[in-house]
Amino acid sequence: MKFDKPAGANPTDRQQVIGKPADRIEGPLKTTGTAKYAYEFNEEVPNYAYGYIVGAAISKGRIAEIHQLKAKNSPGVLAIITAANAGPLQPGKFYADRMLAGPNVDHYHQAVAVVVAETFEQARAAASLLQVDYVKEKGSFDLEAEMDSAITPKPGEFGGPPQTIVGDFEGAFASAPLKLDQTYTVPDQSHAMMEPHAATARWEGDKLTCWCSIQQLNWGVRDLANILGIQKENIRLISHYIGGGFGGKGTVLSDIVAASLSARAVGRPVKVTLPRPLIFNNTTHRPKTIQRIRIGANPDGTITAISHESWSGNIRGGRTEAATASTRLLYAGANRMTHLRLAVLDLAEGNAMRAPGEAPGMMALEIAMDEMAEKLNIDPVEFRIKNDTQFDPEKPERPFSTRLLVQCLKTGAERFGWKHRNSAPGERRDGQWLIGVGVASAVRGAPITKSAARVRLDRNGIITVETDMTDIGTGSYTIIGQTAAEMMGVGLDRIVVKLGDSSFPESSGSGGQWGAASSTSGVYAACVKLRERVALAFGLNVSQAEFSSGQVRSGNQSFSLSDAAKKADLVGEDEMTYGELSKQYAQDTFGAHFVEVAVHAYTGEIRVRRMLAVAHAGRILNPKAARSQMIGAMTMGVGAALMEELVVDKKIGFFVNHDLAGYEVPVHADIPHQEVILMEDSDPTMSPMKAKGIGELGLVGVAAAVANAVYNATGVRVREYPITLDKYLSKMKRPI
Ligand code: MOS
Repeated sequence: MKFDKPAGANPTDRQQVIGKPADRIEGPLKTTGTAKYAYEFNEEVPNYAYGYIVGAAISKGRIAEIHQLKAKNSPGVLAIITAANAGPLQPGKFYADRMLAGPNVDHYHQAVAVVVAETFEQARAAASLLQVDYVKEKGSFDLEAEMDSAITPKPGEFGGPPQTIVGDFEGAFASAPLKLDQTYTVPDQSHAMMEPHAATARWEGDKLTCWCSIQQLNWGVRDLANILGIQKENIRLISHYIGGGFGGKGTVLSDIVAASLSARAVGRPVKVTLPRPLIFNNTTHRPKTIQRIRIGANPDGTITAISHESWSGNIRGGRTEAATASTRLLYAGANRMTHLRLAVLDLAEGNAMRAPGEAPGMMALEIAMDEMAEKLNIDPVEFRIKNDTQFDPEKPERPFSTRLLVQCLKTGAERFGWKHRNSAPGERRDGQWLIGVGVASAVRGAPITKSAARVRLDRNGIITVETDMTDIGTGSYTIIGQTAAEMMGVGLDRIVVKLGDSSFPESSGSGGQWGAASSTSGVYAACVKLRERVALAFGLNVSQAEFSSGQVRSGNQSFSLSDAAKKADLVGEDEMTYGELSKQYAQDTFGAHFVEVAVHAYTGEIRVRRMLAVAHAGRILNPKAARSQMIGAMTMGVGAALMEELVVDKKIGFFVNHDLAGYEVPVHADIPHQEVILMEDSDPTMSPMKAKGIGELGLVGVAAAVANAVYNATGVRVREYPITLDKYLSKMKRPI
């Protein structure tokens, strides 16, 4: 089914199941520990051995020799895989990184060997006996130092154009009566998902099955085929449950390659997981950005010039962090300029992490907007509203399909009690605590992409949905079930959802906030087919058939849905594809974040007191799941504001704090109160589901709202994330 005209009325508009806060279908499995993750297929894949990855101990150079004798003679060892005996390996398509080093080493903890043994402990013990001789080379690890060598990158797969110019930015900025020119930095960050990367691989002849933990199985099949040089048809990936990804499990990483190579070498299934301390330097991360923002405005608050330049670094062939994306479309302004630059760094690969580009970009832009509002002496909510635009400022002929940014800001301000804000910073006290509030806009693209599904009706009236869509903790199982239930006119209890198997019809996968809208649209298309089959079985005209309460009705005829499958199961299978609507319309999601913080007047300790998000993301398929996405993302935003930083050792060239003790993220005690308002909306330009994603929107802007609240509380502006004591304590006017 091709979607190329805005959707009209369709069965999903009934919203008897869709739009309801259904509980997670797979919730009981997860809470009872029976949902199986990639490393847990013990009975299904018997006789497995363990692989243990040895990470490079240098960040750049060459492996001279790997002394293996001691390891080989260690108890239980079955094989040692290195580049020398692994056979030819190519890079995948999505990640630039090579999944096995040798002879060259591209970054610290890049896999140099996999030791395979009967038990995990034996593999680990033998791995510690491998002796690797390296020839070190000097690497580059410091983005500041490499800024001058950075070049304008080629347009990347998700980066958009590296440079955009509208009007005369320099001229307009020079002549603007009020202006801001500031630089902000966002450090390297890690996804820090709960479930480590893990894979169990099994070969049967030339057929490879891999139980793994990745977000896009279709990318995974493509990339693994590329890396190993085998046919896509010979690969099956299974990923039923994923313990978080945040973009860090997009496709094939070293665990899957190591497991596949090991299993081939020993002729048995092999399991590999990345120990937590290996993950941060072996896999990908959100790369650091240095961002310069300039805004020029008239005294009435009208932006006349706006520019955003961002520098990031990556391994050779790696992509740029497109931090300018939101600035290109969020606010009006006749004269505009954005520019991305990319330097070569010899750290682990930088790649997608939740709202890539937009999250770090908005961490900068939304502080800049706060600073500019203060210069203009205009309320920061008002300043944002004043510069709203209903069309793409870079392409005025392209309207936003729906954009309720102003309504989000107004609704949020009202609910949050924004009018009680003291615009003079550092003046509001509650005992020993300084109180501040902050606001930020949120914006995140609403991409949608082709996705297929198969639905099967059986004689008992049970409908089984199959698609290789993944659920990374987001609620895919549930919203896909709701879609099938709504389309076929049955309750959710009649639906079985099977996901995460590449032998099922190819879906969008989970990424870029496109999963919910895309995968449910594929299920919609498959259900349209099944409805046709059912109608045919009863001799009805499908356009007149009404599916509800397990019945199919037309005129005064009525049939039980299950009767259509009395003789044999009925199957509907289809794919939703897309025409040009996303070119005609700017399709985005919007929101507003409000945060109150308390900063201890003596110690400078920051406590977030309450958070409110208002989100506008098309039709909300399941408000409970959507709220969970929002509050999880808001929590991540607090981490970005106050804690998260991969600290670079600039001499050796690696992330020092490569475990969950050193890489801090918020815990429950850090997040006392969160509220979410989901705006009523439906966007017919997206798909028949009229929905958009929300999982990344929730993160964008949060950190800036926290930063702005800290400024409002203390009067100290920190432009370098995370906002840690060393950056503001000495500047606070403390009452001592
Ligand atoms: Mo997302 S960072 O594209 O999973």
